Amino acid sequence: MPHSTQPDTTVYPPSDDTVARAHVDAARYDEMYKASITDPEGFWGEQGKRLDWIKPYSTVKDVDFSYGNVSINWFSDGVLNVAANCIDRHLATRGDQTAIIFEPDDPDTPAQHITYKDLHEKVCRMANVLLSQGVMRGDRVVIYLPMIPEAAYAMLACARIGAIHSVVFAGFSPDALANRVNDCGAKLVITADTAPRGGRRTALKSNADAALLHCSDKVRCLVVKHTGDQTTWINGRDVDVNALMETVAPDCPARPMGAEDPLFVLYTSGSTGKPKGVVHSSGGYLLFAAMTHEITFDYHEGDVFWCTADVGWVTGHSYIIYGPLANGATTVMFEGVPTYPDASRFWQVCEKHKVTQFYTAPTAIRALMGQGNQFVEKSDLSSIRLLGTVGEPINPEAWNWYNEVVGKGKCPIVDTWWQTETGGHMMTPLPGAHATKPGAAMKPFFGVEPVVLEPQSGEEIHESPTEGVLCIKDSWPGQMRTVWGDHERFQQTYFSDYKGYYFTGDGCRRDADGDYWITGRVDDVINVSGHRMGTAEVESALVAHAAVAEAAVVGYPHDIKGQGIYCYVTLMNDQNPSDDLVKELRSWVRTEIGPIASPDVIQWAPGLPKTRSGKIMRRILRKIAENDVGSLGDTSTLADPSVVDDLISNRTK
Ligand code: WT7
Repeated sequence: MPHSTQPDTTVYPPSDDTVARAHVDAARYDEMYKASITDPEGFWGEQGKRLDWIKPYSTVKDVDFSYGNVSINWFSDGVLNVAANCIDRHLATRGDQTAIIFEPDDPDTPAQHITYKDLHEKVCRMANVLLSQGVMRGDRVVIYLPMIPEAAYAMLACARIGAIHSVVFAGFSPDALANRVNDCGAKLVITADTAPRGGRRTALKSNADAALLHCSDKVRCLVVKHTGDQTTWINGRDVDVNALMETVAPDCPARPMGAEDPLFVLYTSGSTGKPKGVVHSSGGYLLFAAMTHEITFDYHEGDVFWCTADVGWVTGHSYIIYGPLANGATTVMFEGVPTYPDASRFWQVCEKHKVTQFYTAPTAIRALMGQGNQFVEKSDLSSIRLLGTVGEPINPEAWNWYNEVVGKGKCPIVDTWWQTETGGHMMTPLPGAHATKPGAAMKPFFGVEPVVLEPQSGEEIHESPTEGVLCIKDSWPGQMRTVWGDHERFQQTYFSDYKGYYFTGDGCRRDADGDYWITGRVDDVINVSGHRMGTAEVESALVAHAAVAEAAVVGYPHDIKGQGIYCYVTLMNDQNPSDDLVKELRSWVRTEIGPIASPDVIQWAPGLPKTRSGKIMRRILRKIAENDVGSLGDTSTLADPSVVDDLISNRTK
């Protein structure tokens, strides 16, 4: 399954059906987009009415993008409650409609249909449990749960009482969990006994036990009894959530919150070793999640929306929970994996629940494409009207397969480019308004003004076609507000390289039609199966092992994962390379960070290519990993050019 290096320039205009049904057609897009850029106050002031406000806002936008003074505020004097917007306001009209369809890992376990009324009661009970544990407005709650309804209850319960949640992906290791609990100063952790996935079980509670050894002994642990598997139990610290939910009141008032009060913190990797706590607001974030969910996916009443992401990532926050529920939709929550019990699972779930919009990652598409078309063809996918992708650039082969085999050439594909930091979609074709091109993110969403900068000078490039670094000129309501506990790091990371702009860290191309194509990260962040990974994080994990003297990590093209993790490792003098040591280092990184960081390739490096000032030349390491040694470029500035020859001749195939 080779990846093309040339873009596929075919243009697919929207079908008449799609245009007729869509909320936004081409003319409307142009008109709305123009208004959103020329009059953001007026535009967003109007859009803000999508939400229910306890006290309406009188100011819309108050933003400063200048380095040193960065400050981002939307609807700042407005008062609302996010959970009330996602639940209570729907009760009168759709209390008996399904809010969440829970599809368990095991296809023989019946799905659960949770109505808005049910959701209201569960969230209220969970909120009362949190209150009973002393959680107050502004306190942080870490949620370390698998894809089960309790994850949604916990997030919304925090929102209901004004606590700030931080969901930690259940695939992260105890160390990664402990770092996050400590960084945000969480008062409690919510976890589950064990988590079934693909027929296997992850021991979540025992991971939490291991993590909590490194945290304050004041941190409580709320345990969801999901599988009933046995776990250790520490009296006084561990609390049985399900039992307590039965005893507390089924009602809990939704607390009035300021639009700028933080809704959640979500950790994401950057180019330094320590993940950043991305802080999102209550008002602006929810509005942006709801509006993008409706318009990008052309959501209509009665649709069944399925985003296959995990709630541990921002995609799950915005498009499993907050966007769909704010719109009163039916959202699917899937506990399992695409290939269990076999590669037809996604399509079987689409058929079973009559999914109308399906949103997944290119890595999943590539993996399923490799299994053959029969798995798709045995399922009835006639309910699907629209397909979406997110997380990484999609190669034309995967796009075309998705379009033809899954969508039968009838479903628009929205390739949505965005980031943890942006809260919601930033660039995507809109179904009734834009043509699509295999691999292009096409057009900016309303209120988003992308600019392509010349990387060195930072000058805006106005002509097309062109290529450069992607920045955003002004704020949008879903933008992150700060890095938890470190506003300086926020400014440094996003506002210092190109002054006056938000720097995305991505490169991009604008073609002759003015359409955007994301080309990938321009920093030391790699994208492994749609998960963002700082190479520095993997390096710090490796050097923490006693046998390792030095390590350098780069990405390289990988057929399924998009990018794989290639590690150059220099051992301590007294250590000898061996296959056992490769295995040991792999499992070491898995325990330090989690399985998603597992190295694909480990190459022993007696020396690393460094400049005379000691800086590792990653450009060269990337070329060797890509097996593109013909274009290494200038190596004359290296302190010891001979290390390059050694790395090339000992390249791990
Ligand atoms: C990075 C953000 C929020 C989405 C889930 C990942 C890459 C994301 C696309 C796309 C090309 C994409 C970018 C971005 N990316 N979507 N449609 N086409 N690249 O969120 O972990 O914050 O990663 O993912 O490089 O910067 P994330």
